[in-house]
Amino acid sequence: MALTPVITEFWDDPSLYTLDGYKSHGGYVALADALKQDPDSIIATVKDSGLRGRGGAGFPTGLKWSFVPQNDGKEHYLVVNADESEPGACKDIPIMIANPHALVEGVIITSYAIRASHAFIYIRGEVPHAIRRVALAVEQARAAGLIGNDILGSGFDLNIVVHAGAGAYICGEETALLDSLEGYRGQPRLKPPFPAVAGLYASPTVINNVETIANIPYIVGRGVDWFRQFGTEKSPGFKVFAVSGHVKRPGIYEAPLGITMRELLDYAGGMRDGRPVKFWLPGGSSVPMLTAEHLDIPLTYEDMAAAGTMLGTGTPMMFDDTVSVVKAVTRWLEFYKHESCGKCTPCREGTYWITGVLEKFEHGHGSSEEVETLVTLCNQISGRSFCALGDAAATPYPAALKYFRDEFDAAITTSADEQFNPSASYVFAEAVSR
Ligand SMILES: Cc1cc2nc3c(=O)[nH]c(=O)nc-3n(C[C@H](O)[C@H](O)[C@H](O)COP(=O)(O)O)c2cc1C
Ligand code: SF4
Repeated sequence: MALTPVITEFWDDPSLYTLDGYKSHGGYVALADALKQDPDSIIATVKDSGLRGRGGAGFPTGLKWSFVPQNDGKEHYLVVNADESEPGACKDIPIMIANPHALVEGVIITSYAIRASHAFIYIRGEVPHAIRRVALAVEQARAAGLIGNDILGSGFDLNIVVHAGAGAYICGEETALLDSLEGYRGQPRLKPPFPAVAGLYASPTVINNVETIANIPYIVGRGVDWFRQFGTEKSPGFKVFAVSGHVKRPGIYEAPLGITMRELLDYAGGMRDGRPVKFWLPGGSSVPMLTAEHLDIPLTYEDMAAAGTMLGTGTPMMFDDTVSVVKAVTRWLEFYKHESCGKCTPCREGTYWITGVLEKFEHGHGSSEEVETLVTLCNQISGRSFCALGDAAATPYPAALKYFRDEFDAAITTSADEQFNPSASYVFAEAVSR
């Protein structure tokens, strides 16, 4: 399947991040068209396109917009989730650095469609370069009359605020993000009410991912049929796949949904040193792992679900046979333990206990009872936590156990380093004994 660069089409033009550079490739033409339409017809276009949210859950974007009550006399808000902090996910940050005006144009069109006059772009605080690029794009768009009052003579007013987060993964969870934006400690809110009804400052709010919003100018400008020629019925369009891990050419590959991991892997130059794929995750550390047997399954929301995993953020992480599954799972759980916001007991306590037990396995001190204890601990978290971070934390171990039980059994007596990198642990033991 051929690559389909759309959002990434002109990334080799070093001026693309500027207003002039973006306009030279047709930028802001879709906005001018959109402002001549009725807002509801834009919502209908996005609904018909079948675009699904690129932030992980794959919720239909147009449907989400249509939940915002119209003509309710309330302020409406658009919030762009640019917190990208999931281990393995690295596609929104490159989009913001290389093509920030696609995001800004998408924000203006979306705000017009949902009748919002204030939009916020909440960017992960640790990526100042992305923040600078987006802030510059907003500034340039404002100076050109594309943001502000009476945009392009349409009567539509919009202000956009670029907000830097302070480095918490949980602030990517949409309601924690809203609390953070309001100045509170970022912790998830109880749903319902959903943000579309009571979100930022208790007003109707649409929260969308960067890539979702960056798709909007292209869909509105080129039409539903153009978008639907890519992908499948249930997963239309294309995706900015970010391939990382033990591949020869890690990076961004924009391709139709439905491409297989084997094809993407070919584009990424194959595995390093010609080693075999041992396991891979289609979209960040929160989705269950797959193995080399699954390389030919189409990367769509429905096919990944049928394979027992999720497309997630569409940022595949590839691991070769030099990696200890025990060690990889332990690292992920250490991340979730650290990032758990502590609001609910199953996640706060569960991530602590799972990590502690996994660390024993990593060092070759596990037990056969604890192989099962870990299953129980994951079951106590999954579906019992306040937000999806808890579910995510309960995901890596059961999937790893399904495919690599032998490694957990071996870790009862043999450390991960001894199993997978004996020379490293020998060197370490030597150094310690000296
Ligand atoms: C712990 C956690 C972290 C999340 N981080 C992000 C993130 O960084 N970016 C993002 O777009 N969505 C993230 N999400 C998903 C959001 O809650 C939300 O579903 C998404 O922003 C909706 O946008 P979309 O419909 O365009 O996908 C996260 C969810 C959880 C539970
Ligand atoms: S599941 Fe974890 S991150 Fe989510 S509210 Fe509970 S403690 Fe916080």
